[in-house]
Amino acid sequence: KRIIFMGPPGGGKGTQAQRLEDKFGIKQLSTGDMLRAAVAAGTELGKQAKQVMDAGQLVSDDLMIGLISERVDQPDCANGFILDGFPRTIPQAEALDALMADKGMDLDAVIELRVPDSLLVERITGRFSCAKCGRGYHDKYQQPKVEGVCDACGSTEFKRRADDNAETVTSRLEAYHKQTAPVLAYYEEKGKVHVVDGTKDIDQVTDDLVAILEK
Ligand code: AP5
Ligand code: ZN
Repeated sequence: KRIIFMGPPGGGKGTQAQRLEDKFGIKQLSTGDMLRAAVAAGTELGKQAKQVMDAGQLVSDDLMIGLISERVDQPDCANGFILDGFPRTIPQAEALDALMADKGMDLDAVIELRVPDSLLVERITGRFSCAKCGRGYHDKYQQPKVEGVCDACGSTEFKRRADDNAETVTSRLEAYHKQTAPVLAYYEEKGKVHVVDGTKDIDQVTDDLVAILEK
């Protein structure tokens, strides 16, 4: 399957994509994770992206389209992929349509995880992840089963994102409403969007997503 996850920052895209990757064996492609890896590695892309990300703004369409275009051809995407964080602008959506048509790939669904802004700041400022494997957690909503130990890989080191502070979150929400909301309208016109209530607890949201994907 080939799926797009849409939703605001902190909406639960990454959390749910990791679970669906485990369940269905379809690869999570998070453009945010790719950019953070580039920043950590100190590549040219990382240097360009860091300031933009710290300001809560969007990295240029050209860079993002190039990144995804190469990524979907890799062998680990043969079974399908979940795009988490892409496309975020109309030019990105149009470029994705063109490159998928070019590669003979169909889009199965666009899923909107709908969560009101009022819940997002708490979700984002409480988030942390495993420093080794990237598994996501939350101080209140999703703690490791054994305190201080990653469920997935057993590591005891965790990290927090540089852009997960209240000021940057405000800019990220603004970018979402201004630049990314029109992408939802774009896919609605094509009849591709399934809306999922992202305010339910994490397991319930997963069940709702599985029901959609198994249809
Ligand atoms: P990106 O990494 O994509 O960040 P984002 O869209 O802001 O999304 P998040 O990762 O913050 O949220 P999420 O929906 O994955 O939530 P999560 O599951 O972690 O992008 C970062 C930056 O990179 C952008 O600002 C931009 O600069 C750049 N960028 C990336 N892609 C780009 C593109 N295509 N074009 C241009 N620029 C791009 O959940 C959050 C927390 O809540 C977690 O702790 C989780 O445990 C908890 N939680 C999840 N679900 C629930 C629930 N149902 N109930 C309670 N808690 C929950
Ligand atoms: Zn881990």
